[in-house]
Amino acid sequence: MIRQFERINLRDRNSFRVEQRAARLAEFETADDLRQLFAGGIPARWAVLGGGNNILFTRDYEGLLLTPVSRRIELLADDGGGVLLRVDAGVEWDDLAAYAVERGWWGIENLSLIPGRVGAAPVQNIGAYGCEAKDVIERVHLYEVVSGRERILDRAACGFGYRESIFKHELRGRVVITAVEVRLSHRPQPKLGYGDVEREVAARGGATLRNIREAVCAIRRAKLPDPAVTGNAGSFFKNPVVDRAAAERLLAQHPDMPHYATEDPGRVKLAAGWLIDRAGLKGKVEGRVGVHDRQALVLVNRGGATGAEVLAFARRVQDEVAARFGVAIDTEVNIW
Ligand code: EPU
Repeated sequence: MIRQFERINLRDRNSFRVEQRAARLAEFETADDLRQLFAGGIPARWAVLGGGNNILFTRDYEGLLLTPVSRRIELLADDGGGVLLRVDAGVEWDDLAAYAVERGWWGIENLSLIPGRVGAAPVQNIGAYGCEAKDVIERVHLYEVVSGRERILDRAACGFGYRESIFKHELRGRVVITAVEVRLSHRPQPKLGYGDVEREVAARGGATLRNIREAVCAIRRAKLPDPAVTGNAGSFFKNPVVDRAAAERLLAQHPDMPHYATEDPGRVKLAAGWLIDRAGLKGKVEGRVGVHDRQALVLVNRGGATGAEVLAFARRVQDEVAARFGVAIDTEVNIW
């Protein structure tokens, strides 16, 4: 079923809660709905808006926004070792995480409480606490706008990287993700290597699925603002990857600087949150915008901020980090 809206206020459809409008918005369920929506011709501007959790609107959207609302979770196979699920793009990611934990299926418990819909998970390859969506995504179901055909992409064809995929590049503006196939395991495979997870899990009595989910939820609730209360889009910046030489220069000055190996031995990942924090910006407020006081990677709308205000503030944060450390931090949030 299709539901269409015109000149719709997007305030309740973006987690930053900025007040911009879209000329048209259509909620859809199936590929046939999409075919129908594009039957009269492909509009000059169109895009997919899921839960709006990783977007900053800086102006009205003069085009067609498509929002998937179908929420089926289908068990495709259970081969003893694990299960294969087909999950509609409109399912809330955390509903899927809860569903898996309830059934004893391992693989996405560390990704508990990540805001957003399943259709968005492959786009930026969501990740937290040592897990990424690419670890469980087997296939992505797509609607190809120009041809009107449905396609299925294997994981290997998705170009997954740190907060990266083909959907941000070659396939951007060409396809609509309609469903994702996810493989989960019956066998326990706890991933506790990251930060506070091990301690919080131990405090709950050990590495059961439920304890891991609860530990992750508790850590996230303590550090990240609830978008239902304070407008934000999670990490506003990506963690920068720099040359080893640059990392070593910084480490000589700041021996406590967090740094992580990457697949490329010549490149090192740094923590943008730490850089912003050490630049003295954690908790900094400017008008209606601020840096979250418990996690410097997150920018918050303190109430009534426009997207342009948030963006101007973000640019100042980037400039100050560059001036202080000589490191460029890129935005993780999509700026529209
Ligand atoms: N740090 C600070 N000050 C801060 C924030 C962080 O010093 O204000 C330091 C921490 O002490 C730690 C390091 O920086 O040594 C990394 O911080 P943290 O473990 O909190 O993780 P992160 O790199 O800031 C990333 C993801 C988060 C994800 C967490 C946990 C990105 C852009 N962000 O944050 O994802 O929840 O790891 O895995 O990769 C998101 O994408 O929206 C998001 C919240």
